[in-house]
Amino acid sequence: MRQDDHVSDRDAVPYDPAAEPAPDPASMRKQYRAEGLDASNLAATPVEQFARWFRDAAVEAHLFEPNAMVVSTADAEGRPSSRTVLLKQFDERGFVFYTNYDSRKGRDLAENPHVSLLFPWHPMARQVVVRGVAARTGRDETAAYFRTRPHGSQLGAWASAQSTVIASREGLDAAYAELEARYPEGEQVPVPPHWGGFRVTPERVEFWQGRLNRLHDRLAYVAEPTGGWRVERLSP
Ligand SMILES: Cc1cc2nc3c(=O)[nH]c(=O)nc-3n(C[C@H](O)[C@H](O)[C@H](O)COP(=O)(O)O)c2cc1C
Repeated sequence: MRQDDHVSDRDAVPYDPAAEPAPDPASMRKQYRAEGLDASNLAATPVEQFARWFRDAAVEAHLFEPNAMVVSTADAEGRPSSRTVLLKQFDERGFVFYTNYDSRKGRDLAENPHVSLLFPWHPMARQVVVRGVAARTGRDETAAYFRTRPHGSQLGAWASAQSTVIASREGLDAAYAELEARYPEGEQVPVPPHWGGFRVTPERVEFWQGRLNRLHDRLAYVAEPTGGWRVERLSP
């Protein structure tokens, strides 16, 4: 499947394992890059280091959606869930994404604000793993971002009660069509009260660089209680 080929008629064809057997994942082996990562050339803060690697991913490696990250949450009983979400902003205050506050992740984070963000930059043999605490962004910040979204996405945020069970696709399309009639293109769409941002304040950020013979580099910034960061190297 090509990267720009998200919607294809192939989805409608029943999968025939005899015609196109799935490859055996155990036989897939890649040697990772030899270039290393050393504490002496890390940036002073994990956000600055993230900015360097994010630039590499976006500008040098031209990765498809390098801002796509796996967000893992856990409910009050500690039961985990993961899903992909787009990073929309980052700076020294943290990493911001937008979602529906009534979704599963929204409910998990209301009960338990501890969260993990994983950036899987496989083609570069890199990953970044952030552990931190999520808090809702202010309404002004949410509104400012909402206004930058395409009109259709703004309506989509109203049409979808994210993570709830629905009867059919038709119901969703009908809800969208109703909203489209009420707020035609050019008309300002109000910010849904159940929609907004989460800012994740990092407590630990690990930079993982694949190396030869599975002797990878893992350097983690750990927040010190007194402020500042300690860097530790972990065995691969
Ligand atoms: C590439 C990609 C980007 C996504 N970006 C977002 C996003 O920014 N916000 C969001 O709420 N869901 C996003 N989703 C959908 C989520 O993965 C997920 O299905 C949805 O948020 C509901 O998750 P939940 O039921 O665990 O809360 C994205 C999915 C993919 C595959």
